[in-house]
Amino acid sequence: MGDVSVIGAGAMGSALTEVLAASGADVRVWNRTRQKAEALAGPQVRVAGSAAEALASSALAIVAVTDHLVARTLVAEAGEDLEGKAVASTCVVTPEQARDLDAVVSAAGGRYLDLAILANASEVPSGDCVFLLSGDRAAYEAHRDRLESIGRISYVDGAPGAAYISGMAVVVAYLPMAVALLQGLRICERHDIPLDWFKPTVLEFYPFQIRSLLERIAAKPNPSAADVEGSVDVMADWAAENAAYLREMDLDTGMFDALHRLFSAASDAGHGDAAWTRIAEHVASN
Ligand SMILES: NC(=O)c1ccc[n+]([C@@H]2O[C@H](COP(=O)([O-])OP(=O)(O)OC[C@H]3O[C@@H](n4cnc5c(N)ncnc54)[C@H](OP(=O)(O)O)[C@@H]3O)[C@@H](O)[C@H]2O)c1
Repeated sequence: MGDVSVIGAGAMGSALTEVLAASGADVRVWNRTRQKAEALAGPQVRVAGSAAEALASSALAIVAVTDHLVARTLVAEAGEDLEGKAVASTCVVTPEQARDLDAVVSAAGGRYLDLAILANASEVPSGDCVFLLSGDRAAYEAHRDRLESIGRISYVDGAPGAAYISGMAVVVAYLPMAVALLQGLRICERHDIPLDWFKPTVLEFYPFQIRSLLERIAAKPNPSAADVEGSVDVMADWAAENAAYLREMDLDTGMFDALHRLFSAASDAGHGDAAWTRIAEHVASN
């Protein structure tokens, strides 16, 4: 028996196999294209002959294949071999797909977990990546130490699929931030601002600002005008100013044009003096 099995040796399965092996786990790995699994073989990693064999050979199996349907097929083929096993799937799923996988695993006597990974495969070896779990709590508790060896683990809820919905709430801010950081880099290039100044300064600026912002946007609304730290109109102007600066530098203004439209719509609806932190309500109330 191994300590943990990994089904799928694509980018994510390979990264997980390497991290688990580095933590001292005895890993069984299976991949449809066998050479990819063999490339991972070593003192801690043995290649299984089939997905069913890999699923049967450890108390915890992590399924890291393309999507829900592939995972479902492999798990269903394992049949009774899943008795007492915990199966964690890394596929991005809807709640319905998660319930479906849960049903297939449970029918075969296993216990299902969603394993939502808030990172790219290349970031996993850092050990700092965030992994969200939902599904069978007893399975999570039983394998908590092993799961914690791959990164920052957080159990969200017993409902299958909950990890993905919660992950979406966290990750939705990533793309706009990434685009804005790219624009910051372009500004540095155009104005000969050194990267070794830009990077540490960004890292100094954002951790505090994110904490402060989260406190403000999560605070209960105070209707007193004196309490309005930044109004909808101020943010509309700020978005327009940012767009104008970027336009001058011949950089794309699309993101700030959209923000300007958002705040202007709230202002046009009579919320110009209101706190911008209630923007979702101001816009929704139209
Ligand atoms: N990569 C990331 O950064 C990342 C981040 C978060 C979550 N995830 C999730 O992790 C899962 C794997 O992603 P990945 O990036 O590792 O994908 P990938 O590199 O494209 O690998 C896909 C894996 O699925 C296997 N596969 C595909 N169709 C199959 C089939 N019909 N039967 C058996 N195996 C099959 C592939 O086997 P072959 O090698 O034989 O083709 C390969 O092992 C996905 O569900 C993804 O949503 C990935």
